[in-house]
Amino acid sequence: MIIKINKDIHLRDYKKTDLISIYNYSKKKEFVKFMEYKPFTKEACKKWLKRKLLDKNVKFYCIFYKSKLVGTYVITLLGVKKKICDLSYGIDPDFQGKGIFHLTTKKILSKFNLRRFQLYTSSKHKKNLLALKKLNFKQEGYLKNYYFDLKTNKFFDGILLSKCK
Ligand SMILES: CC(C)(COP(=O)(O)OP(=O)(O)OC[C@H]1O[C@@H](n2cnc3c(N)ncnc32)[C@H](O)[C@@H]1OP(=O)(O)O)[C@@H](O)C(=O)NCCC(=O)NCCS
Repeated sequence: MIIKINKDIHLRDYKKTDLISIYNYSKKKEFVKFMEYKPFTKEACKKWLKRKLLDKNVKFYCIFYKSKLVGTYVITLLGVKKKICDLSYGIDPDFQGKGIFHLTTKKILSKFNLRRFQLYTSSKHKKNLLALKKLNFKQEGYLKNYYFDLKTNKFFDGILLSKCK
């Protein structure tokens, strides 16, 4: 399936040949700075992709900017009537700050007829928190020691945010 966002940005389902593009940015230190993961190895990237793609509740999209794969957007449907979803996403650091996340999330919110969009993120991820606030996501919880950072072997705090319809 293709979801057109504007003339430069579109989403489409994953193809096997996308692995290398996803690996090429997810191995960057900057990409995982606010996540619990170490920069991805090719094997870790493959494993992560396999886990997502095999999950029947997951809608997995690759994000394209001017025909280049620059990120992924993962929607995990939850709950009895599957009207709740968890969002997770990542944009190649070289393509951040162009409104790709903002415009893509806006489209996802309008396209999927769900009651609740939620996500967890690091309390230190100011850029993400600001971008979510601009999209009217509300903070619902502050989660002490929610994550364990594999880079530093330390626990760190998370924030739960949601947007409900
Ligand atoms: C968090 C993350 C997804 C944000 O993605 P992004 O594409 O850089 O974010 P955007 O460009 O949409 O938003 C950032 C800015 O662009 C602005 N923007 C909105 N629409 C825009 C447009 N049409 N054109 C340009 N900029 C726009 C946003 O308002 C925001 O402004 P500000 O930061 O200058 O105040 C990105 O930093 C990322 O992928 N990080 C690594 C992975 C990660 O941490 N994922 C989150 C895990 S929970």
